[in-house]
Amino acid sequence: MKIAVGSDHGAIELKEAVKAHLEAKGHEVVDYGTHTAESCDYPEYGKITAEAVAAGDCECGIVMCGTGIGISLAANKVKGIRCALLNDCFSAEMAKLHNNANMIALGARVLGQGLALKIVDTYLETEFEGGRHERRVNLITEIENKYNK
Ligand code: RB5
Repeated sequence: MKIAVGSDHGAIELKEAVKAHLEAKGHEVVDYGTHTAESCDYPEYGKITAEAVAAGDCECGIVMCGTGIGISLAANKVKGIRCALLNDCFSAEMAKLHNNANMIALGARVLGQGLALKIVDTYLETEFEGGRHERRVNLITEIENKYNK
């Protein structure tokens, strides 16, 4: 799978760990930055990573910042993006099974690396259930369309 990753300075180490983990599993990873430890603005990296997913350049995306909150909020402003902020494996499963999230966000100052990687695996290994959940996801898209003319 081709997977987009992006982070601010607060999650550089986690981004590197996620990249290495995904590549070891045979995924192609595109890193949208940041590439240095210098302080930067998470909305910029949430936006460019989400744009790659929305454009179809990558099948899904993983964004990271200190809490995962700011970068998930930014990613979710890009049309077509459903980015789930995840702190546990149950939610990681549900984010794909029920919500068909096309991106996830992780907080490097919240999660240990082991849990973060397990969340990534759980999300990637789960399939969208469809059915009644498809109708609900479509209703989210309707809201998006109403407010994004
Ligand atoms: C940066 O200090 C921090 O605010 C950022 O990484 C993130 O936690 C924002 O939501």
